[in-house]
Amino acid sequence: MEIKKQKKFYITTPIYYINDNPHIGSAYTTVIADIIARWHKLRDEDTFLLTGTDENSQKTVQASINLGFNNIQKYADFMAERWIHVWKRLNIEYNDFIRTTEDRHKNLASEFFMKLYDNKDIYLGKYEGLYCEGCELFLSDEDLVNGLCPLHKKEPKMISEQNYYFKLSKYQSKILKLLEKNKKFIQPESRRNEILNFVKAGLKDISVSRQSLRWGITVPIDDKQKIWIWVEALCNYLHPKDYWPADLHLMGKDIIRPHTIVWPAMLYSAGYKLPKKIFAHGFFTVNGQKMSKSLGNVIDPIYLVDKYGADAIRYYYAREIPFGQDGDFSEESLKNRMNNELANELGNLLSRTLTLVEKNLDGEVKKTAIDKRLFKNLKIKQLDKFMENLEIHNAIAGIMGFVQDCNKYVNDNKPWEIKDKEKLNKVLYNLIEALRITSILIYPFMPETSGKINEQLGITNELPKLLECTPGLLESTKVKKGDVLFKKLEDKKK
Ligand code: MSP
Repeated sequence: MEIKKQKKFYITTPIYYINDNPHIGSAYTTVIADIIARWHKLRDEDTFLLTGTDENSQKTVQASINLGFNNIQKYADFMAERWIHVWKRLNIEYNDFIRTTEDRHKNLASEFFMKLYDNKDIYLGKYEGLYCEGCELFLSDEDLVNGLCPLHKKEPKMISEQNYYFKLSKYQSKILKLLEKNKKFIQPESRRNEILNFVKAGLKDISVSRQSLRWGITVPIDDKQKIWIWVEALCNYLHPKDYWPADLHLMGKDIIRPHTIVWPAMLYSAGYKLPKKIFAHGFFTVNGQKMSKSLGNVIDPIYLVDKYGADAIRYYYAREIPFGQDGDFSEESLKNRMNNELANELGNLLSRTLTLVEKNLDGEVKKTAIDKRLFKNLKIKQLDKFMENLEIHNAIAGIMGFVQDCNKYVNDNKPWEIKDKEKLNKVLYNLIEALRITSILIYPFMPETSGKINEQLGITNELPKLLECTPGLLESTKVKKGDVLFKKLEDKKK
């Protein structure tokens, strides 16, 4: 008998700098990556989600000094734990967490560097120019705004030293061909155009090492130099050997250049396959303002999880901002979505349905015919397509649209007025089926809520699958009404 091979899906988040705690911007990338990964699990794919921390930055050194740590590694250990903790609280189900100070990473990065070297793409040269430690990037005059790095509002450092160079220019035409041939390689389209223009303008060789740093991964052929952080950080994606090439590198729009130019060129040089897709999402403002420490508007995800629960935040991220565009975060709109959509629509649908089943049918619905009217707008293939195209917002909007249909179905059928038990069983069985399917569909977005719904429906909580989203699969079930799914948060006005 032929055994069908399970399809693989490998997705990555960027690895995060540890000079600061996670905030709602960094959590955004990771939560959406987890939602996408879980959707692929629903599809029954062999899914791998990779995340981690980018620890070898000069920013790590500065932050550890500022906090009074006399041992940088101890500081890194302390911060890595904090990131891991936040991901736990947000229910991020990653398969591996790479810390770039781990030996396994140092080895992998050194070997990768040697592959570039052995391929004669590394040479020693003199570098003179500007370096922004905030970006950990060399900047050109054109990048600056009034002499400052536009992102970090700081004057870059003038560096003049002997460095190892990577022959990026050698790969210009290959990368151009790649972008022209594979129109889906960089998404969204606007980002692709941006990079395409950049490559067309010409690629120069880049310096891939720094002298006299005490923190970082040593260049294997020169112990006086450290590997440029972006070169070794990008290598983190190669750790899950069996899953490479990645199906999707997810990130914010600020770091698309190293991912779409430097990374493919190095992979060509080292003889690896390329990732299949690179998607850059937009940036968050908070109440219309850029998030920054000096403005004091940096929001801690833990504060939000404590107040609203992980699922409400995950939902909000997916629902509020068309994926790929910039957006604004406000607690007010998070609360409104939780109250109006999660509590009033989803929570209410479950509780009113179960109340009716418990009151009128002794808590049990029996399998019966499916009422097509209820399911007419439920298009699983369409939802799957949205997720495939990374139209995350459209997918969750579609699912919530179905929940609204269900509430309308309750209102239209008025089950509390139906005296005939068989007719009543039919309406309620259909609603329970709708809830069962909803719990599968929301699993990637709100895994905790999905589990709670199943429990109340009396369904054993196995890993849900997209294939089970067909109405009519459920046999009889004995329900067990529990706590409300979402407690509404009222304004504290007295
Ligand atoms: N360490 C590099 C990535 C190396 S990957 C080989 C880095 N780290 S970061 O911590 O600065 O940023 C990580 C991610 O957080 C990026 O995808 C970035 O776009 C995202 N965000 C940081 N601030 C953000 C917002 N305000 N809004 C949305 N995303 C934001 O870059």
